[in-house]
Amino acid sequence: MKIAVAKGDGIGPEIMQAVLLIFEANQVPLEYEMVEMGKWVFDKGFSNGMTKEAQITIENLGILFKGPMETPKGKGVKSVNVTARKTWNTYANKRVFQTLHGVDTVFSKANIPIDLTIVRENIEDTYGGIEHMLTHDVALSRRFITRPGSLQVIKYAFEMAKKKGTKRITCGHKANIMKLTDGLFLECFYEVAKEYPELKADDVIVDDLCMKLVTRPDLFDVVVLTNLQGDIVSDLCAGLIGGLGFAPSANIGDHISIFEAVHGTAPDIAGKNIANPTALLLSGISMLRHLGLMENAAIIENALLYTLESGVHTGDFGNKSIPALNTSQFSETIIANFGKIPKVNAKKILPNMPKTNTLFRLEKNAMMISKEMEEEQIVGVDMFIESAEQPNVIAQKCERHGGLKFKLINISNRGTQVWPTGSVYTNLVNQYNVRFESLDGTPLNQQDISGLYVSLSGDFKICSTELLNTWGNQRAYSLAQGQ
Ligand code: NAI
Repeated sequence: MKIAVAKGDGIGPEIMQAVLLIFEANQVPLEYEMVEMGKWVFDKGFSNGMTKEAQITIENLGILFKGPMETPKGKGVKSVNVTARKTWNTYANKRVFQTLHGVDTVFSKANIPIDLTIVRENIEDTYGGIEHMLTHDVALSRRFITRPGSLQVIKYAFEMAKKKGTKRITCGHKANIMKLTDGLFLECFYEVAKEYPELKADDVIVDDLCMKLVTRPDLFDVVVLTNLQGDIVSDLCAGLIGGLGFAPSANIGDHISIFEAVHGTAPDIAGKNIANPTALLLSGISMLRHLGLMENAAIIENALLYTLESGVHTGDFGNKSIPALNTSQFSETIIANFGKIPKVNAKKILPNMPKTNTLFRLEKNAMMISKEMEEEQIVGVDMFIESAEQPNVIAQKCERHGGLKFKLINISNRGTQVWPTGSVYTNLVNQYNVRFESLDGTPLNQQDISGLYVSLSGDFKICSTELLNTWGNQRAYSLAQGQ
């Protein structure tokens, strides 16, 4: 089997070399094709941080094992790490956090074992990076949560939980506030849960989840979250087991999967041969399991756990009275410990069952539509306008533009209603949402909306427009706070 490997920037080449040496010493039956990605590729003028050849190789091989990569600051370029995850639809980010004996934490000292898997949606949410300055004072980020995107990652999480033999799967969310976006994610979670009656499926609001994770992490098995919340919660979990040096990450897609450490390029220690390769090694071990190389994975993981248990450490963790090893010495010790079994969490050695390559080239982009369209009606429109005037002045102007089709319903500022009722204690910014609905309840069409747009633009700069739709009896938009 052949996989693509990108060494990365900063400490990337050092820790990648350490891991590949361990693989080689264990005769892992893999061939590596090195691909060009990262800072120096940006510097050569490739705006997405990878060469065309790298893209073709990765798409042909289906697996990318990568070191951390730097995103150049202030050049208007996007992170190659995020681009790779999104371009190849690696929709599930799986991060396993386990107590590692020899890595002291508050929980290991209190004898509270941690074995947690966070599955984070990896494509959507605010990570689309679709942002606009609506006025000089107001920035807007669009947050996309989609039904097919949510179903993809949630189904992966349930399937993984079932295979792992976990009992509990939890959805972390903020659906109490973001009723449509997080509400949709939560709805998808319980929809998928019906197909897995053997698993206890529940949900926890994300702030409460954080509190519970830092007090009783042992109560959770698998937690699935949207992208940004998952990003934050997974770093929190890295802290529970000893820090970023121990946090592996797998980005799983239907065609291409990417394995990498959670941490970055650590520029402060790069080139010194002192970085801790454990996180990248754990990511590599999870890649071996993904490829069916169970025996290699178990032998290497047992050697790593044994090494940590015996007090061997790099400079970033461990007992300071025992001298720290450098990156090469640390990996050599792991190699010397092949065949040793750790006292705690020893992995069962199962035979290798290499997966046959099921990769096939796609001819066109897959379109994901999960639901038949219900009967849809336009019942109004939200016009986001720039104005530094008071709400009642805006209301008077807007009412003149309603004509025979529209009535002005309410005006809000940063989501809080300020007209027809509100409080003078609500601080304002120079951007309002003016909501119009059909005057007599008859459905509207797009021409009606553009007529209103043209009329209103005589008085205001319109920054953005959103249709208000209903599906059957259901409102497909949120109400303003206080409406
Ligand atoms: P970082 O994770 O590189 O470093 C944070 C701190 O942790 C530093 O003190 C560093 O020395 C230490 N550290 C990290 N990994 C370590 C290891 N294996 N062994 C010992 N100590 C380690 O985060 P930072 O400084 O915010 O980011 C640096 C660069 O990395 C940025 O350009 C960022 O964009 C990039 N980055 C790339 C990621 C990826 O490729 N997936 C993920 C996160 C950041």
